[in-house]
Amino acid sequence: MTLLAPLSYGDRFRDLIGSLTGIILPANKVQMIDQRLRRRVLAFGLPDTEAYLRMLLEDRGMTDELRIVIDLITTNTTSFFREPSHFDFLVDEVLPATLGRRGTGSAPRLKLWSAASSEGAEAFTAAMVLAEAQRAGRRFDYAILGTDISSQVLERATAAVYGIDQLNTVPPPLRRRYFMTSADPALSGKARVVPELRRRVRFRHLNLMDDAYPVDRDVDVILLRNVLIYFSAEDKDRVIAKMVRHVAPGGYLLVGHSESMAVRHPGLRQIRPTIFRKE
Ligand SMILES: C[S@@+](CC[C@H](N)C(=O)[O-])C[C@H]1O[C@@H](n2cnc3c(N)ncnc32)[C@H](O)[C@@H]1O
Repeated sequence: MTLLAPLSYGDRFRDLIGSLTGIILPANKVQMIDQRLRRRVLAFGLPDTEAYLRMLLEDRGMTDELRIVIDLITTNTTSFFREPSHFDFLVDEVLPATLGRRGTGSAPRLKLWSAASSEGAEAFTAAMVLAEAQRAGRRFDYAILGTDISSQVLERATAAVYGIDQLNTVPPPLRRRYFMTSADPALSGKARVVPELRRRVRFRHLNLMDDAYPVDRDVDVILLRNVLIYFSAEDKDRVIAKMVRHVAPGGYLLVGHSESMAVRHPGLRQIRPTIFRKE
């Protein structure tokens, strides 16, 4: 008879994060986990990370603390105009094709979903380029949904306030048109997205591991960028299969440049390395 060694707290913690978020924490990232959780260990006056993990795993009343852990564990790196060719594609290809399909009549509405939005740079980049297309005379309306598992980034996304240095990748004319600064000392060094864009972008909590997504099923473009990389092959397939249900026929799914290999679905046709169309 062989006895299995009991799982260490580190392993149990990785399992817990995996089952809650889909995120695979590699065993060699223990030091990173340790650093990210240090503040919480201190906040509870505990001697070390192991004591904190024990508390987290053994105390059932830790729901709020788990939310904080998810905020700390997720990697939320993002920027305006990240992978800029996607936004050119949106204006040059998606917009004419989608509006052409809808025909003339009252201004057609384009629906976008930034499905791992982080603090909103992706959603607001899409809003800026679409607002520019409207300024150039195209008649349409648009609505953008941003979702993420981290409550903290969603709060920031909803506030739509960014450090001036985060705007370096925004072309200057767009920076001037779509961000406003304030004399309020609390907002020094920061800029806020203008109300015209904020009105069109909503943010909501959504875990991609959930069985189903409470989102419309006729979304024209889903941006699912730089999040699949954290999931197992099985979870990638499951997430994509669920996503496909929300893409309108003829609509698009866009993934990050290192994620295109993860997209294998009979309902999707690859039309560019990171761009898939629903047939
Ligand atoms: C690296 S950021 C990518 C942000 C943006 N899409 C981009 O490309 O710039 C990954 C985001 O995925 C979110 N995330 C991770 N696991 C998730 C899950 N299971 N459900 C929803 N969002 C998740 C993280 O909180 C993080 O904000």
